[in-house]
Amino acid sequence: MAKDDCIVPLVGYSDRLSVRPGETVGFKVSSTGTEPFTAWLTRSISADPNPAGMGIVEEPMEEAFAEQAFPSRYQPFHPGSHAITEERVSLRPGDGFLMAATIYPTLARGSPQTILSVGDVNLLVSGDGAAAISVGRDVVFAPTGIRLRRWYELEAGFDADSGRLFIRQRELGTPCPAEVHGSRRCSLTKGEVRQRAIIAARMKDGVACEHFNGKIEAPGLYRGTERSDGSAIARWDFSRDISTTTVRDSSTNQVDARLVNLPARAVTGSRWDATEMCWRHAPEHYGAIHFHEDDIYDFQWETDFAFRVPEDLPSGVYVMRISCGEHRDAMPFYVCPSRGKPRANLCVLIPTFTYAVYGNHARPDHDSSWKDRDREWNAYPYNPAEYRSYGLSTYNFHSDGSGICHASHRRPLFNLRPGYRTFGGSDCSGLRHFQADSHLISWLHAKGIAYDVITDRELHEEGLACLADYRAVMTTSHPEYHTDRSLDAIRAYRDSGGNLMYLGGNGFYWRIALHETETGAIEIRRTEGGIRAWAAEPGEYYNAFDGAYGGLWRRRGRPPQELVGIGFTAQGEFHGSHYRRKCFDPAYDWIFEGVHGDIIGDFGFSGGGAAGFEMDRVDHRLGSPDNVVVLASSEGHEDRPILVHEEQLTHLTNWPGEPTGNLLRADMVYFDLPAGGCVFSAGSITFCGSLPWNGFSNNVSTILENVVNRMTGSGLRDRSRPRVERSLD
Ligand SMILES: [Fe+2]
Repeated sequence: MAKDDCIVPLVGYSDRLSVRPGETVGFKVSSTGTEPFTAWLTRSISADPNPAGMGIVEEPMEEAFAEQAFPSRYQPFHPGSHAITEERVSLRPGDGFLMAATIYPTLARGSPQTILSVGDVNLLVSGDGAAAISVGRDVVFAPTGIRLRRWYELEAGFDADSGRLFIRQRELGTPCPAEVHGSRRCSLTKGEVRQRAIIAARMKDGVACEHFNGKIEAPGLYRGTERSDGSAIARWDFSRDISTTTVRDSSTNQVDARLVNLPARAVTGSRWDATEMCWRHAPEHYGAIHFHEDDIYDFQWETDFAFRVPEDLPSGVYVMRISCGEHRDAMPFYVCPSRGKPRANLCVLIPTFTYAVYGNHARPDHDSSWKDRDREWNAYPYNPAEYRSYGLSTYNFHSDGSGICHASHRRPLFNLRPGYRTFGGSDCSGLRHFQADSHLISWLHAKGIAYDVITDRELHEEGLACLADYRAVMTTSHPEYHTDRSLDAIRAYRDSGGNLMYLGGNGFYWRIALHETETGAIEIRRTEGGIRAWAAEPGEYYNAFDGAYGGLWRRRGRPPQELVGIGFTAQGEFHGSHYRRKCFDPAYDWIFEGVHGDIIGDFGFSGGGAAGFEMDRVDHRLGSPDNVVVLASSEGHEDRPILVHEEQLTHLTNWPGEPTGNLLRADMVYFDLPAGGCVFSAGSITFCGSLPWNGFSNNVSTILENVVNRMTGSGLRDRSRPRVERSLD
């Protein structure tokens, strides 16, 4: 982005979201200020700016990182995907040349979109929607405009014999393919053009611009005016190495290209005929790449400073804060314990995959009036909906209307900041994810319960080993996205005698894939059903990153009920109701010790109640174990939540075969496992929002404390109060 565009004056990101003692995390900052910016480290206790609660609370950590100043500098970023060759290619007007590509445009832009570029020779779609070739100021347009979401084969170039620039355009997939031609005389006075080739953009002053929106297939460069093996300068085959960011040249010259900003691969090409749904089985059907002007992966900012984590730094949630003049930013990251050296009986699983997947979610209901309360509460001021150029989330669409299927934390994520409010118009704190999960973190501190943190990254990379030493493991409010390996790790922990607490709703729902080489890149294919922000296109249900079928874990035979006894059943507005106690078996009285009455959680900072918004329930057909005990179920959901899509069959029937109204509830459950472990599941995404209510003294807090005490034993429990010395305003 150019400096004068809509930018945040001071903003940064860390190169990793989790780090262990002895390892280093780097911080990348862009500051438009003229004076140096200051950085200091804190430990995050509460990220909820609501003055009715704790407010934002962070412990200063000067001993670990002394406050320091660093020079300000503006760091630009450049959205838009394309491919670029490392080597230069040559076009010689004396020989004639040909540019070819098959395209499927998806956005009428009103300005040029480049398909293939070598220096000032460009194959493009004009702002008027006509395919064209330009050489410097000379342009030839195809006489018929192209339509969106149709396949066209384009060939354009310079005929040295006739001295004419020409273009040929053929629409594919129609009963009578319409072919049109355009040409004009042109005296190319310049000699050889020798530049790096770019696909889906062109270069201006070293920066890619005029990006193409849509699919491109089989782009190529040729000597003369016809395509042949012998005349190929480069002939890129997108059906090869689909899981990588390398584009292979099938010509003898092997001029491979490198993809920038992760365009979508494993998408259907012009040859896809619906006979095969998996790209691995028929890669020739998937010879296209879908490029977008707003694709973004890694801002690639320079590192301004780094922090090496001392060996004695407690595991927890940390924030590198920066300020410059009136501007402030905060970059959260997680310190895990050293490998094999847990410091507590309890481990909190931080859902960094889910945080990244939601990273920069621009909500469709965002309203600028939300800023009034944000100012009043001194909440985080920037919203992704107003800074869309920083790249949106996989809950949003690209500018061409296609769903965003890639996520990355290697850029500033505005909603991963202390004090960010997701539901700005809500009467409650209006928090999700990082900020909502701080309700649990602050509760652990208030109760003096020692804990370590492990993030999804360690789960994925290290498996059971990173959890094996803990007596108990707890999730936060919304552990929705998992890889095979992160899910395997939790399952293995549970089945080897571990005690598991699932303290949220809509957990373990979607399957994601990580990229083999592009650190932090996550792919999600929103296939078939499920509550989802967009729908994957037909034939595009298999991930490019790992070749596996994407979508709901339920569709892959691993419903969350199998793991934690409950699974997603209902979604409503951001309102919470209460649970009513259902279990009076004395064997489970220990869970309710200290709880008076049957109504639980009719209060809270998330939606006003412990049960609501996204709720899970027991279903034995989907794997809830026979011995699962429903401790309590929610009721009184006046916001009329809906049954999730995957539970609905017809207008009269649903999958469980019960009256729909019975299914719109959260079940709080408990069950024992053969290996000696047990599972407690809350069943609601707003559960943790009730923990801090009334100074952490309430029946939701009591129930969780009873469960934690039982699951962790008394070994490493630390009753010392947190050293909360500085409330950041
Ligand atoms: Fe979600």
